Amino acid sequence: MGTRDGLNWPRVQALAARERADYVARHPASQALAAQAAQHLLFGVPMHWMNDWSTPFALTVNEASGAHFTDADGLQYADFCLGDTGAMFGHAPAPVAAAIARQATRGYTAMLPSNDAAPVATELARRFGLPYWQFALSASDANRFMLRWLRAATGRSKILVFNGCYHGTVDDVFVDLVDGVPTQRASLLGQVHDLTAHTVVVEFNDLDALDAALGAGDIACVLAEPVMTNVGIVLPQPGYWRAAQEIIARHGTLLVIDETHTISSGPGGYAQAHGMRPDAVVIGKPLAGGLPCAAYGMTEELARRVEHAKRSAPAGHSGIGTTLSANMFAMAAMRANLEQVMTQDAYTQMFALAQQLADGLRASIARHGLPWCVTQVGARTEFQFGLVPPQNGSAAKMLMDEELEQAIHLYLLNRGVLITPFHNMLLVCPATSEADLQRLLQAFDDCLAALV
Ligand SMILES: Cc1ncc(COP(=O)(O)O)c(C=O)c1O
Repeated sequence: MGTRDGLNWPRVQALAARERADYVARHPASQALAAQAAQHLLFGVPMHWMNDWSTPFALTVNEASGAHFTDADGLQYADFCLGDTGAMFGHAPAPVAAAIARQATRGYTAMLPSNDAAPVATELARRFGLPYWQFALSASDANRFMLRWLRAATGRSKILVFNGCYHGTVDDVFVDLVDGVPTQRASLLGQVHDLTAHTVVVEFNDLDALDAALGAGDIACVLAEPVMTNVGIVLPQPGYWRAAQEIIARHGTLLVIDETHTISSGPGGYAQAHGMRPDAVVIGKPLAGGLPCAAYGMTEELARRVEHAKRSAPAGHSGIGTTLSANMFAMAAMRANLEQVMTQDAYTQMFALAQQLADGLRASIARHGLPWCVTQVGARTEFQFGLVPPQNGSAAKMLMDEELEQAIHLYLLNRGVLITPFHNMLLVCPATSEADLQRLLQAFDDCLAALV
């Protein structure tokens, strides 16, 4: 089976060419701004990967609110990308906007805790069931800091990750299994260290491989998403995490669950919703409504070990934390977001919408006889180019097809619907409306009709 089964490939290519021409014709203002930007922005964009979307040149956003945004040409979009989770509860939610406005005249950063720090930590502890917390400016940073703490606390140098994982720009995790051999990801720029020396990689859903890899007793922690979401979605098989947690604990290894994307599963993330008991949790992206902010929490026992490691170390730089981490602005936004936006009610609404979305996608796929599947993690939905959901990173990679993805993404974008680039993820937020869903489902159905 291939990703292009059931498709009329010359039609796909013709459609992609038509859509590119259509995009150019409809976006003169974005095109003019892209030309101006090219003079002083490397690669013509503020972040080089902003060029990796399906569009011939970057789509410039004018303003974003709730489930929608408007581009520089005045066109309106239903946003199912939502900043790839950063805006998972909608753009500029009113309580966060109000908190930011309040804080705007009360100072931004002082390298001291603000009034919001203690209530925020109390709320995180309640939600995630972990008593001790620290903060960072991004989930990448939070993961990096967590690895430092855990190596220091355990005295073990190695970590274990799952093949195909992504945890942000954390160098340690960029090791893939290539024909079964741990291999540093070739696309990494400027990396001079041998990452395979301290990173062990196994396939997700393979308990024997996990057990064998941890056997030497030199692995500080397993860093994992509870559901893989960055190589398409890979769900844990029934009973996988129960058995995996036993194995990890038996080897004296710690389990860090990265909930940055799987916070789509509920107010306390996937681990809380599914009765997991990780030693530590990392969360970023939507935590402060999309403002730069991340947090990591840990058990009482781990906190004691971490504190011991810090107190026993020579005085000086720990290598953990940055000047603006836990700044007053982020704290105020996070508090408003946690207390008033990321609520159980919001999740209930999102789950119902996501279910409707997944059902609609499945119906379209079946109607056009395509061998594709649809997978859900709470408010997060993904369609993949294979009949059955993949069980590990290698299988998931086989279902990816950049050319096909880009043709579909651009077709949808030209009809006012944005979905996440690089794979086929769709998020709903509390402000997503029935009309937004219908717009997406109709455009998706029309697209499939044009492709087969
Ligand atoms: C699971 C996971 N963890 C961490 C990150 C890093 O987040 P950020 O880029 O905000 O640092 C990402 C980014 O996509 C992610 O998917």
